[in-house]
Amino acid sequence: MIKVSAPGKIHFLGEHTVVYGKPALLAAVDLRVTTTVIPAKAGIHTNNDLRKIIEPIIKKYLKIKTIPPYNVEISSQIPIGAGLGSSAAVSAAYIGTLLCFLKIKWDLNLINKLTYEAEKVFHGNPSGGDNTTVVYGGLISYIKGGPIEPLPFSISPKLSKNFVLINTGKPVETTRQMVEMVAVHKDKFKKIFDEQEKLVSELLPAIETGNEKGFIRIIQEGEKNLERIGVVSPYVKAIIRKIEKAGGAAKICGAGGKTKATGILLAYHHNKKVLEKIAKFYILPYFSTSLGVEGLKLH
Ligand code: PMV
Repeated sequence: MIKVSAPGKIHFLGEHTVVYGKPALLAAVDLRVTTTVIPAKAGIHTNNDLRKIIEPIIKKYLKIKTIPPYNVEISSQIPIGAGLGSSAAVSAAYIGTLLCFLKIKWDLNLINKLTYEAEKVFHGNPSGGDNTTVVYGGLISYIKGGPIEPLPFSISPKLSKNFVLINTGKPVETTRQMVEMVAVHKDKFKKIFDEQEKLVSELLPAIETGNEKGFIRIIQEGEKNLERIGVVSPYVKAIIRKIEKAGGAAKICGAGGKTKATGILLAYHHNKKVLEKIAKFYILPYFSTSLGVEGLKLH
């Protein structure tokens, strides 16, 4: 029996602009998906949709025609389609278990590369930020096609205790659709993309040193830029304005949505109760979880 788990991810900032070569800052979150592969007798070969995506990628890479029979069990704490990287996490964990099952040496670079191939099937033209974060874990400063940079520091404890993730629900739009929507106007958005790049670079020192005032300002301005490119629905904008009015900051996390739900909101306030009260007012589920946790793990 082989068991591998992977965390989910949040975008601190830089989603969408990362598609155009700008840096993004992501963190692994402590909601995990676990896959277990159990060798099976010939003929017992359970089927699922994920298998149809992952197996061809592995076969192509290893240049093999068949994979010995096995059963796979998948359990996940990550809400699907909420901007928490569920597709990257489940693909990475599944690929990790299958490679072990095939007696391939544990190699995060390889698992990351193959997970990126799976992400392409899910999302079309992904930046690769999600798979990199769930595989390596911690805090990741990500540039498309650039070297992988797990950051050598963690989130200041002054900030890390004050986050609440509020689930606004699964957007009707897919990540692929949201990315395509932004692409239509990308030339018009150049100035906004540049501003977002500057904010991402300012965010790093704020997170490391625990500069709360700076952090709140950066998240608020970063969220405004996401709104300008049209990836935040009016419903979610109203929730975010309420959080800002109460002295906090919040932003969508990932592709967003323009109709109503936008997935998870990353919300911050020095008094988390304020955020919980706002989530309750909108009758939305919320939770707190550790950020910057371990990446892919062989159990
Ligand atoms: O919706 P998610 O959690 O898969 O995040 C997508 C992030 C984007 O920057 C919009 C796309 C990408 O591939 O990086």
